Amino acid sequence: MTKRIILVLLLMSAAVVRLNSGRPQSNDAARLPAVAAPETSYVGNDACARCHEAISESYSHTSMAHASGPATDEPRTVDFVDPGSRVHYRIFSDAGQLWLSFERPGDSFVNGKRKLLYFVGSGRRGLTYLFAVDGFLFESPINWYGDKKLWDMAPAYQGTREIPLNLPAFTSCLYCHVSDLRPPLPGTENRYAMPFQGHGGVTCERCHGPGASHVKGGPIVNPAHLAADRRDAICMQCHLEGKIAVERPGLHLSNYKPGDDLSTYVRYFVLSDLATRDLGAVSQVEALAQSTCKQKSGDSMSCTSCHDPHSEPSPENKVAYYRKKCLSCHGASFAEKHHPNQADCAGCHMPASRSTDVAHTQVTDHRILRRHLGVDGALQSAGDPELVPFPRSEQVDLRDRALAWQMLAQKGDAEARGKAERLLRQAVMNNPDDPAVLAELGYVEQQHGRADSARALYQRAITRDPDTLDVAIDLAVLEASSGHLGAAVKLWQSVFARAPYRSNVGLNLAEAFCKSGQYDSARSYLLRVLEFDPDSAHAKLSLQRLNQVPPACGP
Ligand code: HEC
Ligand code: HEC
Ligand code: HEC
Ligand code: HEC
Ligand code: HEC
Ligand code: HEC
Ligand code: HEC
Repeated sequence: MTKRIILVLLLMSAAVVRLNSGRPQSNDAARLPAVAAPETSYVGNDACARCHEAISESYSHTSMAHASGPATDEPRTVDFVDPGSRVHYRIFSDAGQLWLSFERPGDSFVNGKRKLLYFVGSGRRGLTYLFAVDGFLFESPINWYGDKKLWDMAPAYQGTREIPLNLPAFTSCLYCHVSDLRPPLPGTENRYAMPFQGHGGVTCERCHGPGASHVKGGPIVNPAHLAADRRDAICMQCHLEGKIAVERPGLHLSNYKPGDDLSTYVRYFVLSDLATRDLGAVSQVEALAQSTCKQKSGDSMSCTSCHDPHSEPSPENKVAYYRKKCLSCHGASFAEKHHPNQADCAGCHMPASRSTDVAHTQVTDHRILRRHLGVDGALQSAGDPELVPFPRSEQVDLRDRALAWQMLAQKGDAEARGKAERLLRQAVMNNPDDPAVLAELGYVEQQHGRADSARALYQRAITRDPDTLDVAIDLAVLEASSGHLGAAVKLWQSVFARAPYRSNVGLNLAEAFCKSGQYDSARSYLLRVLEFDPDSAHAKLSLQRLNQVPPACGP
């Protein structure tokens, strides 16, 4: 669900109750019950290669096959100073391992290194690394940008002043890049029993489904033999983000298997005025759906009309390769009259433009426009946005629509608020036990200042889904601002044990314990925050003030 920014509460009174068992334990989360790796029916690419040698060989050269893997398979050396934060980063090999080091001269906290475990991204367009602290998995703060051939801060952190070392690697991020991903430990978002993955890259089985029975002679999914919507769903699981994606009750995208109906797991919504220039980096599915080619061809056209899932054309052959695909529908005689001297059909009708959501990255325009308007030729969106399910469907649960509008409102679309609230109030009557609906309605009530109603809704949500951290955080904020500091602290402690990289939560705890005179507890919370977020100015200042005589609270 949505990640809201939580406020650090400095409004707590100094005369506070004595708080319980404050000291954070670095192994709090370690005491969470470990899950055994699920019995897996995935066998991996090597097993397929035994019998499908040619496909396996050509597939092994694709970027999907290299969408992730052990960091030491992609060792890059980097030496780069980020001007915004003045942090000096290096990536280097040492004793058979790959490391990321960071250092800001004169700053004792921002000086350390992390062992890089995994890379994400083939590097053609970009690449980043993953590292773990205490089993919590994070993304490197710096990324390689393949189009511009440079290292820079991660996409959302351009121009940042604090080094972001606490970017959690959620399942939702890894799902498209890593195969046979293990779920995080219960109650956590990114703490994995290592290894967190079964196989690197996009494996055969991501498109063909688990192969354990097929290697013994049983059947396996061939996308070409599926109904069109199930065939298309296979690529959509990773190439469609939509404006909003709502997971169905109790289900996750990661439960999807090739051959399934994707909308059983996730509902995608797009804005109806999508005829804008706004192309995200992962938008090929939506864009193609808008093309005249697709609209006129219907189910007979799919991603594989132009892309061979098992191979990629070499750079020299690209123009001829795609031209042939166009002409398979438009006919060779068409090309004899139409720009006969220019072979690059896609160059004119599917140009690459800058992605609107990932820095330094180009995206091919899959709308296949008659005339390309250029990056600046933005069409104005007409009227209020309308969220529509994608692919088009009349059968959309009220619950899913309500959550979609609420997520749109959360993204800052003020127009969506009223509608979201109306739909949520209706949805909670049909789905009185749905934790997502309860939590979102709770948030709406909290925004209206109706604390009791919000609290009741949050508590019902948490009872039904104790693993969700965001609801506990929202409830804690509510409790703290209603003067129930003890209750807030309990909630923060439960969250911080499961998500010690959530600096604001640790800072709230430090503040609460400091105000109640428990300075040692306050100090250990600050140190725990700095372990994951060594450049938190707030934590560093608070620690300094805490170490004064007499100690003072807050930054
Ligand atoms: C022991 C040999 C063997 C192994 C191992 C094997 N296959 Fe096959 N596969 C076959 C044979 C034989 C066929 C049927 C003949 C054909 O179409 O090539 C087949 C057919 C297929 C088909 C087409 C199915 C259809 O109904 O049209 C797919 C897809 C496929 N295999 C994928 C895989 C994948 C993915 C793996 C690895 C998980 C794999 N195979 C491992 C032998 C094997
Ligand atoms: C499990 C997720 C997943 C599935 C399923 C998937 N893709 Fe991909 N695809 C990716 C990722 C991730 C990349 C980027 C790989 C990289 O460069 O790191 C990618 C890259 C591509 C590329 C770009 C290759 C290039 O030239 O850089 C094409 C084309 C593509 N996919 C087509 C398809 C088609 C067609 C299907 C369905 C038959 C499909 N993909 C299914 C995840 C997936
Ligand atoms: C919905 C599926 C999806 C999710 C989630 C996703 N990616 Fe991707 N990613 C892709 C696809 C598909 C591409 C291929 C490029 C494109 O579409 O332009 C890609 C490309 C990339 C690339 C560039 C690879 C290359 O060289 O082409 C990097 C790096 C990357 N993703 C990292 C991440 C990270 C880090 C996250 C989590 C924060 C993430 N991705 C989440 C699907 C996804
Ligand atoms: C990105 C998705 C994707 C991946 C990854 C993928 N396939 Fe396929 N595969 C397809 C699609 C789509 C088809 C159907 C092609 C068509 O339209 O005829 C297919 C067809 C097949 C077939 C049927 C025979 C044929 O050539 O059409 C076999 C066998 C097969 N794949 C094996 C493999 C093996 C082995 C791997 C891993 C090395 C693999 N596939 C990886 C999407 C994928
Ligand atoms: C699966 C068949 C198919 C493929 C492949 C295909 N098209 Fe089309 N395309 C069509 C159909 C059908 C139409 C609409 C009828 C027509 O104008 O011929 C169309 C229309 C168009 C139009 C007119 C758009 C408009 O808004 O009037 C352009 C431009 C176009 N295609 C370019 C391409 C290019 C370039 C490629 C290759 C990169 C391509 N098409 C591949 C089927 C296809
Ligand atoms: C009409 C032909 C056509 C169809 C259909 C098509 N693509 Fe593409 N696609 C292209 C061309 C051309 C490129 C640019 C290739 C290049 O420059 O290397 C491309 C590039 C891509 C890339 C690389 C990233 C980017 O934006 O440049 C991805 C990923 C991709 N396509 C995915 C898909 C998916 C998923 C589908 C199905 C929804 C699809 N494509 C359908 C022609 C097509
Ligand atoms: C130099 C750029 C350029 C190239 C190369 C090019 N086109 Fe076009 N194409 C255009 C323009 C511009 C139009 C719009 C003409 C108009 O609106 O009068 C167009 C129109 C079309 C149409 C709409 C029908 C028509 O005749 O107006 C189709 C279909 C089409 N192109 C397909 C293709 C295919 C297939 C190729 C490759 C064989 C290709 N184009 C190569 C620029 C190009």
